[in-house]
Amino acid sequence: MGQQPVQSATPYLDALRAYAGRSPGRFHVPGHKGGAAADPKIKEAFGERALSLDIPALTEGIDAGPEPTPFQLAQELAAEAWGAARSWFLINGASQGNHAACLSLAQSGAEVVVQRNVHSSTIDGLIVSGLRPYFVAPELDPDLGIAHCLTPAALDVALDATPAATGAMVVSPTYFGAVADVRGLAEVAHARSVPLIVDEAWGAHLAFSPELPEHALACGADLVVSSTHKIIGSFTQSAMLHLAGGHRLDEHVVDRAITLLESTSPNSLLLGSLDAARSYAAVRGAELLAETVRGLRSARQAIRQIPGLDVLDERLATRPGVHAYDPLRLVVDVRGTGATGYQVARLLHERDIFPELAGENVIVAVFGMGETAGDNAARLVAALERAVAALPGGEGGPEREFAPPPPWGPLEMTPREAFLGAQEVVPVEQAVGRIAAESLAAYPPGIPNVLPGERLTAETWEYVQTLLAHGGTLRGASDRTLRTARVAVEAR
Ligand SMILES: Cc1ncc(COP(=O)(O)O)c(C=O)c1O
Repeated sequence: MGQQPVQSATPYLDALRAYAGRSPGRFHVPGHKGGAAADPKIKEAFGERALSLDIPALTEGIDAGPEPTPFQLAQELAAEAWGAARSWFLINGASQGNHAACLSLAQSGAEVVVQRNVHSSTIDGLIVSGLRPYFVAPELDPDLGIAHCLTPAALDVALDATPAATGAMVVSPTYFGAVADVRGLAEVAHARSVPLIVDEAWGAHLAFSPELPEHALACGADLVVSSTHKIIGSFTQSAMLHLAGGHRLDEHVVDRAITLLESTSPNSLLLGSLDAARSYAAVRGAELLAETVRGLRSARQAIRQIPGLDVLDERLATRPGVHAYDPLRLVVDVRGTGATGYQVARLLHERDIFPELAGENVIVAVFGMGETAGDNAARLVAALERAVAALPGGEGGPEREFAPPPPWGPLEMTPREAFLGAQEVVPVEQAVGRIAAESLAAYPPGIPNVLPGERLTAETWEYVQTLLAHGGTLRGASDRTLRTARVAVEAR
């Protein structure tokens, strides 16, 4: 290994800048030639500088030539920053990380234990890899109507039932800032010598502040998917995959999976932004995150003063399945207003304020590591005040009793078999008893009720329809009105 630079260094970004600064003869792609041949509108919108830094892979002195190349050094610095044995820069988001994790696991087995409310990219990873999932339910919060994390006890039972599992895949933190007991989950997985894969898409920042819950690698996770763009602020679509030491997963298998799943023309702007964002987080993260946490603390107090609004805070960590709480997610509980989160969000949109997510009971606002959270949150607080004041009186509101989803149907085919096999669209009355070829996830709480390969039960069907009739929403179905369903054609 070459001499390792310190975290303030940005070797890959510097190499891009050095290349662009030399004004080299660009007799290579991309055809805009560093801006010289660019469409004027592109130039005007994105700037000459961005174009000059758009440099292809395998360029000497950037990611080719004497090793370690600046690209290798940048990834080594990322591994050091997160405490990984090896880190990879991804150009297709954390989604690519989940796909690669599934493909890597499939190299050593055919079955995997999966938290039921994983992101859709993990389900796609099951399709890509052909793995047969054994799903485990996360803890449900009947009060808020949302799903939290998986408990070590639930994982223990699932792994007992799946002795051939090649690994376990869980999510932490959730969309709502609930952090799992990753240490406990890792102990359970490791007791059976299987790797724990944590989708930490929402937690790339956790490694950089003592005020935040411990991050997954520090708690013993073996492979961690990190959506670096979400909170740390690299460019959209850029992400990382971190592998722990310990050899529960083969580094070369993971490497091959990543290569298979990405373009041979990775975008240097995305990669450069990862190098810079890593340095920013490692050098200034603690100070920046302290400001964000402080600003959000005041914002929470201010939002609680607005009639009908409450906010999630550290009290979340007392709920089942929640080990700790990430304060960078501002989850506003709107139930006391008598309106839904969708209604309040619409009023915010009218004021040009766009939260990350609206649900039946909550609105989620996301704050980035480097923003002056106090000032920006004040804008959100003011808009929320006006939105709540503008709500029509006597709104019906989400009065529906929360009913936990029924058990999902038996898995008759792997998600891959259902995805690749013959399919047909049938009227909804004929779907019960058939094998689903697509997902159905009713919100709240957003746990998939049906995934490709599962037989549709009457109970599930009734539940989804009742929920829709009461104003819930459906994700995943190609016909969102649920008049038809896409099912597998079974051999007779
Ligand atoms: C838990 C989780 N994992 C993975 C992803 C995919 O991340 P990306 O958009 O970076 O591909 C998301 C996206 O929201 C997510 O919420």
